Amino acid sequence: MRVLVAYASRHGATAGIAERIADNIRADGHAVDALKIPAPAADPNEYDAVVIGSSVYLGHWEKSAKAYVHEHRDVLAAKPVWLFSSGPLGDEDLDEQGRDKRVVAEPSDLPELVEAVGPHEHHVFFGGLDPKQLGVGPKLMRTLPAGRKLLPAGDFRDWAEIDEWSHGIARTLDAP
Ligand SMILES: Cc1cc2nc3c(=O)[nH]c(=O)nc-3n(C[C@H](O)[C@H](O)[C@H](O)COP(=O)(O)O)c2cc1C
Repeated sequence: MRVLVAYASRHGATAGIAERIADNIRADGHAVDALKIPAPAADPNEYDAVVIGSSVYLGHWEKSAKAYVHEHRDVLAAKPVWLFSSGPLGDEDLDEQGRDKRVVAEPSDLPELVEAVGPHEHHVFFGGLDPKQLGVGPKLMRTLPAGRKLLPAGDFRDWAEIDEWSHGIARTLDAP
């Protein structure tokens, strides 16, 4: 099958997840393109299945990724679609209030995205943050201890989890 992995990534962490998902589904025998949104070539009409991902900033998907879903909602709704978000940072699964970080990180746009395209699944992956790449605002925030706690530096992407999720997509596509 032809599979599109379309992603929005501000600083590269989500791009890395998307490329890994694409590599895995390709290794499982499908023809896969991984394209950054906005990409003129990323026309979902040309694919049998679509995976769409975005980093989460201040509780939201990147505007470009949301716009992509809405622009192509009719085509996407008729195909198998998977969504993922890259967000939580740090080595712990739970935040200071004992809440599951993956649940807290679910973007507030999720209900409208689910309504628009009816995905098989939405998965939250831990992300990554390189302080050198940050803009002035977030950099300033990280000068405070509370800011550094909220936005810890490091690569927290769980490659085994990403591999498992992507091979699961390939298995679903292979199912009769
Ligand atoms: C200013 C700022 C705000 C962020 N807000 C959130 C957030 O609301 N929820 C979350 O889970 N992650 C948040 N993150 C973490 C990013 O989503 C994470 O670093 C992500 O992997 C970045 O992906 P990218 O490099 O592809 O942009 C934030 C990071 C920064 C720098």
